[in-house]
Amino acid sequence: MNNEQESQEIYRPSAEVIAQANVKSYEEMARWAERDLEGFWAAQAEQFTWFQRWNKVLDDSNKPFYRWFTGAKTNIVYNCLDRHLTTWRRNKLALIWEGENGDLRTFSYHALHREVCRFANVLRSMGVRKGDRVTIYMGRVPELPIAMLACAKIGAIHSVVYGGFSVEALHGRIEDSQSNVCITCDGSFMNGKIVELKRIMDEALKRSPTVEHVIVFKRTGHDVPMEQGRDYWWHELMALPITRAAPGSNRNDTEILDAEDPLFMLYTSGTTGKPKAILHTHGGYTVGVGTTLRAVFDLKEEDRWWCAADPGWITGHSYIVYGPLLLGATSFMYEGAPTYPYPNRWWSMVEKYGINVLYCAPTAIRGLMRFGEAWPNRHDLSSLRLLGTVGEPINPEAWRWYYRVIGRERCPIMDTWWQTETGMFMITPLPVMDLKPGSATRPFPGVQADVVDEQGQPVAPGEEGYLVLKTPWPAMLRTIYRDPDRYVQQYWSKYPGMYFTGDSARKDKDGYFWIIGRVDDVIKVSGYRLGTAEIESALVSHPAVAEAAAIGLPHEVKGNAIHAYVILKAGQEPSDALAETLKAHVGHELGPIARPEKITFVPQLPKTRSGKIMRRVLRARALGLPEGDVTTLEE
Ligand code: PRX
Repeated sequence: MNNEQESQEIYRPSAEVIAQANVKSYEEMARWAERDLEGFWAAQAEQFTWFQRWNKVLDDSNKPFYRWFTGAKTNIVYNCLDRHLTTWRRNKLALIWEGENGDLRTFSYHALHREVCRFANVLRSMGVRKGDRVTIYMGRVPELPIAMLACAKIGAIHSVVYGGFSVEALHGRIEDSQSNVCITCDGSFMNGKIVELKRIMDEALKRSPTVEHVIVFKRTGHDVPMEQGRDYWWHELMALPITRAAPGSNRNDTEILDAEDPLFMLYTSGTTGKPKAILHTHGGYTVGVGTTLRAVFDLKEEDRWWCAADPGWITGHSYIVYGPLLLGATSFMYEGAPTYPYPNRWWSMVEKYGINVLYCAPTAIRGLMRFGEAWPNRHDLSSLRLLGTVGEPINPEAWRWYYRVIGRERCPIMDTWWQTETGMFMITPLPVMDLKPGSATRPFPGVQADVVDEQGQPVAPGEEGYLVLKTPWPAMLRTIYRDPDRYVQQYWSKYPGMYFTGDSARKDKDGYFWIIGRVDDVIKVSGYRLGTAEIESALVSHPAVAEAAAIGLPHEVKGNAIHAYVILKAGQEPSDALAETLKAHVGHELGPIARPEKITFVPQLPKTRSGKIMRRVLRARALGLPEGDVTTLEE
């Protein structure tokens, strides 16, 4: 299908969906925000509780270090938990959780608040204070959000490391964040197997000996070593008539913070080997995340919302944990693999819990699509009202399948484009808009996105260019932790005054955005963001490897798969066995998601005269495409 046909395939949400939408008119809301950006966001901020109001909505006196709601006092946890306790929501379910083995746990707002208070006391008793960093490396259990919220409650900064990462990735993140306290699990269940989280943590800590305390939540119950004086069981700490901070208490005062105080940092991959810690703050993030979730997914009090991402990624932070709790909604969370024990697992849970809104990644849809329609068709999916996707472009075929087979042609699909850095949805439909399969549609009100050429000039409709953002937004990253220069250089220096996303896109004649993909050295594998340099440095850490280059090539289910080109050290012989060893080595160092699909041994790599590997040339060769401009190629 060509671009023209693509942009003509239109799906209109039903009259019923439109009639009950929280936001009735995209145009009206967008015009308001365009007319008065600060007034628009100030009005959104009114939905939340502030201990003290702001002096200024947007302070742009020190660009690009924008500040939002300056002078205001708040704490996101007050808005997520405390304030609901004086309403009927005290007895409403905040969280429903199902384990891969079928375990079920539920938390009312009252119960979740109590657990968070108790764990906040545990952290305080361990000496964690406002501004301290805490690394959280857990499976998908309710204690993960509890740990995040407990940190935020006392003003500590959480750094969640995805539970699928491994030793080197974890070590680097602990070290960079300078965490003294880490929180983990004995293990987690995934696909019927145990992921050895505690053992990976132990190995990482051998490389980062500054960590003083490790709190271990018991999930699997299998035997793990505990180091005396360093490691403590979560359940034992929680059972103590705690604590020095608040003896024997289910109560813990929520720290009154500045709107611009840091809430969390989240590492993400960029163009160098060193992952960068994206820093988000309490006030603006509260407003951006709460507003977008309410408008885009149209959550209602009686809804059950399921964001099937991992809490260890931005999607989970914003839309499993903080967003739904800000709105007083009921969030469902599932521990395990979508196909365990059978490919109907997700659909059986939609039916069992009466899920109303499902938000997941295109790769999951493509993966489940492969098993055929019979699996979803065995289930009553009529509770679903809206669907969503995130993380990578959704191919129109998967979109149509999701729409027809899962949504039964009743549920509009919200294809939300955003990033770890943006914190909130940026280009996204509202459920009152016409949809085009494969397009994330239009910028959220208040967001100005555009597609520009190398010089920063807007390109003509239908033409490909770089995706940029032209206005600041409240949930934006504030900086890269301990590296403000990199923040400026990475995002704000390609085009003066514009935020550079790292994506390419085109905009059609209706102003709809079509995201094409990354233009930097980031590979999206199953929606997970990995840096080529991280993979290459893991490869080079193996004694047989002299040099390596990693690229992403199209893959039917994963979107992209990692292909690595390796130059061996003198005296090393290429073999299939060595290729397997190297794949396993990357899996061990970084995690299974980073394991290359294919390793090719080569005598040399295409490089520029200054010695930079030209991955673009490798990609073109692998795909049999023209190599493009190779004037700088050395070889
Ligand atoms: O390339 C875009 C892609 O994911 C990148 C951001 O990755 P990450 O920070 O891990 O956050 C993912 C979850 C928000 C973007 O630069 N991306 C994200 N959403 C979409 C997308 N590409 C196309 N369509 C989307 N809806």
